[in-house]
Amino acid sequence: MREAIRFGRNGTVREVRDVHPRTTLLDWLRLGERRTGTKEGCAEGDCGACTVALGRLVDGRVVYEPVNSCILLLGQCDGADVVAVEDIAADGALHPVQEAMVTHHGSQCGFCTPGIVMSLFTLYEEGERPVGRDAVNDALAGNLCRCTGYRPIVDAALDACATAKDRRFEAHREAAACALGEIAADGADLFMRDEGRFFAAPASEESLAALLARHPDATILAGATDVGLWITKSLMEIEKIVWLGRVASLRETRSTPETLTLGAMVSHADAHAALAAIDPDLGELMRRFGSIQVRASGTVGGNIANGSPIGDLPPALIALGAKLHLAGAKGTRTLPLEDFFLGYRQQDREPGEYVRAVEIDKLRRHDAFRCFKVTKRLDEDISAVMGAFRLHLEGRRIARARIAFGGMAATPKRAPLAEAALVGLDLDDELAWAPALDALAQDYRPMSDHRASAEYRAVVARNLLFKALAEIAGDAGLRIAPRPAGLAAE
Ligand SMILES: Cc1cc2nc3c(=O)[nH]c(=O)nc-3n(C[C@H](O)[C@H](O)[C@H](O)COP(=O)(O)OP(=O)(O)OC[C@H]3O[C@@H](n4cnc5c(N)ncnc54)[C@H](O)[C@@H]3O)c2cc1C
Ligand code: FES
Ligand code: FES
Repeated sequence: MREAIRFGRNGTVREVRDVHPRTTLLDWLRLGERRTGTKEGCAEGDCGACTVALGRLVDGRVVYEPVNSCILLLGQCDGADVVAVEDIAADGALHPVQEAMVTHHGSQCGFCTPGIVMSLFTLYEEGERPVGRDAVNDALAGNLCRCTGYRPIVDAALDACATAKDRRFEAHREAAACALGEIAADGADLFMRDEGRFFAAPASEESLAALLARHPDATILAGATDVGLWITKSLMEIEKIVWLGRVASLRETRSTPETLTLGAMVSHADAHAALAAIDPDLGELMRRFGSIQVRASGTVGGNIANGSPIGDLPPALIALGAKLHLAGAKGTRTLPLEDFFLGYRQQDREPGEYVRAVEIDKLRRHDAFRCFKVTKRLDEDISAVMGAFRLHLEGRRIARARIAFGGMAATPKRAPLAEAALVGLDLDDELAWAPALDALAQDYRPMSDHRASAEYRAVVARNLLFKALAEIAGDAGLRIAPRPAGLAAE
């Protein structure tokens, strides 16, 4: 058992043992270390002023991602290398992205600047060359600048990334790899403080199940892109935290010709490519999920377990026919994902149970899939309505249909009446689609809230089903999934 959080700082291993379990990385940096370069703007993951880079060992190399330090708990840095804005200039010389920000006048009041520099730093150090405008825009989608405007910032990014990569940071990366290797070698469970108030990070599922059985009231922590806001915005007094980040089996991804299984702790960034390979619409959904910082921290399991009616993955995965794997001290069980959601923020999860993995049924021959996210802003916005559709076709006839929506009910929910109305329809007979479109009004009674009115949601849902049918009818030959290798013909 280890009683201190251990992480990398400038090539050394830092140990912290007596902080409150809910201390954020930002507070530790600013208040504890007096490293005040990193700023607090919104304290809810939206503005990016607090961005730092977090590096983790991947096949012996430290790979850095940008994270929002305002909602990331210090304990989540265990086993990672923390790089703040003060750490990237080397030997008195600015990092190339800092140089470019100066040259292109990318800063006025400067409040956003440290966060923008850190987002560009990870793009520079990790982005695939050549770095184009789309990649820069994606890298900056989680960073708000209110006064400079983005043109000079984007120019600075393009300019800095246009030349061959400066190798100065590699010395830091190598020193960090040694430090993180030393931390990884201990393989111990982390338990900081005492039974009444702790930050714990079990190193195996066995220890995790035992700890949750002993403390069923503890808060399970994954990426903290929700839980972090309970602390910074709702000021919740969370005393017992069990972080899943040290359990390697929860980070596993397994792919067969028929299924993709994502461990609960697979981050949205890491799930992106595997989901995009099932269908490009899933790739675009993930690209628009939060910001690059949110995707680096947030997890597939957290997006399901939080039970939000407007979470993006659940409707898509329900339409695909995913199964959820749960585990706890009493053993494991599996259920269709839609059955997990019982009511508003009520899930079929016993105290002490945790989400282990989600198993996604890939598209087969003659399957077509579409999903659409409707938001007020294109990037970094939560859905007002999210619709997902999977059709199985026999020739031009719809043989099976699965439809799921987010934002239309108290939970992510299927549309049984619309699904039934679609079965047997001819894709080319547009007039015959009307009963299925009408059935959505019986399947859902949406709410009005600050994102959208009930009427708007109802119209949008109807239009999204129409769009899915029209797209599939229009290019059925192009986007019907090819048969995966090794799968028997139906
Ligand atoms: C700026 C911002 C933008 C966002 N944009 C989007 C968006 O576009 N789309 C979207 O859907 N969401 C969005 N979110 C919400 C959030 O990022 C996601 O829901 C995310 O997937 C939550 O995952 P997490 O790992 O951070 O969960 P956490 O915050 O760690 O946990 C969330 C909840 O799930 C529980 N939990 C987590 N993992 C498990 C597990 N394995 N077993 C049991 N319980 C568990 C926790 O106890 C907690 O109740 C956004 C959030 C922010 C701050
Ligand atoms: S302070 Fe705004 S994202 Fe962290
Ligand atoms: S320079 Fe002022 S907010 Fe960006």
